[in-house]
Amino acid sequence: MDVFKSEFIASSPNVKTCPNEFIPEYPFIGRSNVGKSSLVNSICNKKNLAKISGKPGKTKLINHFKINNSWYLTDLPGYGYANVSKTIKKNIDKLITEYFLNRKQIKLIFLIIDIRHKPLDIDLNFMSWLINQGKRFSVIFSKCDKLKNGKFNAQEYMLEVKKTFNENPKYFITSSKKKEGIEEILKHINSQNIL
Ligand code: GTP
Ligand code: MG
Repeated sequence: MDVFKSEFIASSPNVKTCPNEFIPEYPFIGRSNVGKSSLVNSICNKKNLAKISGKPGKTKLINHFKINNSWYLTDLPGYGYANVSKTIKKNIDKLITEYFLNRKQIKLIFLIIDIRHKPLDIDLNFMSWLINQGKRFSVIFSKCDKLKNGKFNAQEYMLEVKKTFNENPKYFITSSKKKEGIEEILKHINSQNIL
């Protein structure tokens, strides 16, 4: 699928104020700094559509981007960012939880994992929560340009997921820097859009 149009629609502080158009929606979620916003830019082939930063905690709101006039990508704040107050952390957790529980347009969730990391409790806990809520998700491993044996790491990670949850989500190995794995994600989204 070609992305011939991508536009920023809105930044929303909570799910109630998100755009109310009912079109398929694909959120990007994961720990802070894993490269969620960079992936949005790679998919849209634009440098600064979603704001990125070397410092964790850049994305603070729910950002909707409309693609090809027909579906949304959503860039969310990261969870698990240690360097903020308890109140801010609680607010981000609430925003994320309420978004996933109430946003009926969500077709499929993309959970972004930094390919360099072994399974971390915070990600496994989030996965467990999604599974318990009956939410469908795929995994995107990010920053594969930073690791030589990325494919092996991803396979090991997914074995652990299978062992822990008896689930076999689809996964993608990507680099926003090298623009790798992006076409596969778009293909997968395309296959979900047609129902
Ligand atoms: P928050 O909004 O803070 O939750 O972060 P985020 O997950 O949106 O991450 P963001 O896209 O802002 O990227 C964080 C940092 O990782 C930036 O310095 C990016 O340049 C870098 N980065 C993102 N993707 C890649 C990648 O594929 N390869 C490399 N080498 N760096 C990347
Ligand atoms: Mg971000």
